Amino acid sequence: MSPSLATVAYLGAAILFILSLGGLSNPETSRRGNLFGMVGMALAVLATVFGPRVGAGGIAWIVIALVIGGGIGLYAARVVKMTQMPELVALMHSLVGLAACLVGFASYVDTSIRLEGAEKIIHEVEIYVGILIGAVTFSGSLVAFGKLNGRIGGKPLLLPGRHWLNLVALLVVVWLGRMFLGAHDVQAGMLPLIVMTVIALLFGVHMVMAIGGADMPVVVSMLNSYSGWAAAATGFMLSNDLLIVTGALVGSSGAILSYIMCQAMNRNFISVIAGGFGSGAPAKKSGDAAAAEPQGEVTPISAAETAELLRDAKSVIIVPGYGMAVAQAQHTVNEIVRTLRDKGVEVRFAIHPVAGRMPGHMNVLLAEAKVPYDIVMEMDEINDDFPDTDVAMVIGANDIVNPAAQDDPASPIAGMPVLEVWKAKTSIVMKRSMASGYAGVDNPLFYKENNRMLFGDAKKMLDEVLGALTG
Ligand code: TAP
Repeated sequence: MSPSLATVAYLGAAILFILSLGGLSNPETSRRGNLFGMVGMALAVLATVFGPRVGAGGIAWIVIALVIGGGIGLYAARVVKMTQMPELVALMHSLVGLAACLVGFASYVDTSIRLEGAEKIIHEVEIYVGILIGAVTFSGSLVAFGKLNGRIGGKPLLLPGRHWLNLVALLVVVWLGRMFLGAHDVQAGMLPLIVMTVIALLFGVHMVMAIGGADMPVVVSMLNSYSGWAAAATGFMLSNDLLIVTGALVGSSGAILSYIMCQAMNRNFISVIAGGFGSGAPAKKSGDAAAAEPQGEVTPISAAETAELLRDAKSVIIVPGYGMAVAQAQHTVNEIVRTLRDKGVEVRFAIHPVAGRMPGHMNVLLAEAKVPYDIVMEMDEINDDFPDTDVAMVIGANDIVNPAAQDDPASPIAGMPVLEVWKAKTSIVMKRSMASGYAGVDNPLFYKENNRMLFGDAKKMLDEVLGALTG
């Protein structure tokens, strides 16, 4: 492929990626967005493999790598459950970071690259920054992976003087950078580069370990952004325009998502990154805050009684959460919605921005079950409607409907906007036990007078509710 044809293909791929992002911003156009992304990526891979920079000998290596990587990807796509997707995404981010590190070291030791003067300095800065971002992304994403799959606890690790530690690490990295740029040969530059990589790896671990369970959504989107910048840095090192553009797109859209997540959770971005939120530490309570302590009795309800309440209701709001994903109950939920709507009940969904374990998690599940988009509402659109609602049905959600976020200033989730299901005439919470949610916080909702608990696996209970509704 000639260089100009490869450039045109890269340009086409970049446009397709932009169209893809545009499509993914709306459920109705998301399928098309995905398609654009897939076509763009296929174009990019073909233009790279058959492009002017890969010799005949290189193609064999690339094909071997493609077969191995593609095989692992295919296997993962087949066996990974929907609930494991966030972990998989975190793992993929870590691979982007690792790739940036490896490309950085390879570029540094590559003897075929002979640059002088300003060009040499620019290339070495690219290498240094690329490895720095890559290493933070790599280790941070691995810790996020561990936190998301529960191997690492949600409690933040708060080292004494952690902000000072971070500051010292930053200063040492800058000083090592000077040493690296001043090195007269590769041997002399290798030591500061390796020490900086180790510091960056430790910083990545420390940064994510210091963030509490409730703030993980911000971390996930932030690492998504970092992985984009790591890819862009790799693009600079390899002088690959498409990688720079694509990395910048991922980096900036991830940064926007992090900002949206912070707003949705009423958090200050800098404070989240500095760590310590969502500690889940025993809260010191005083005055009014003590009233938020869960107390009293919970009132269980059966599936048949739930069906009766739903049948008699004029308006129902369904709040799905992580438990719906675990139980894979979305199809039964759709059947129930259809049945109720056929009976003239107004049914809508209320989607909290951080419901589940990844951005848009609930929207993906509901779209898969073919729930009509027009009854799926964002939190801000529907939160004021709970007082006029007969039944709020919470399916496997917990933190996102926890009134302690409003009532208890000492709660680790204090200040996070929540869906006010308790304002409905009756709320029904469907879960297996009294266990807390991801943030590890007790939920006073369960004890409210107008709340009922439908204990059991969401899929099983909803099947029973559906049976009672249609039987
Ligand atoms: P959670 O607060 O985690 O609550 C989910 C509830 O589902 C659990 O309390 C669990 O209770 C129940 N459950 C689990 N399996 C079930 C099953 N098979 N059937 C019925 N119930 C089941 O979820 P949420 O309300 O969706 O809130 C999301 C949380 O995750 C927030 O804290 C958020 O910050 C965090 N988070 C979100 C993201 C993103 S980007 N969305 C990323 C990382 C973390 P039982 O065990 O008693 O059944």
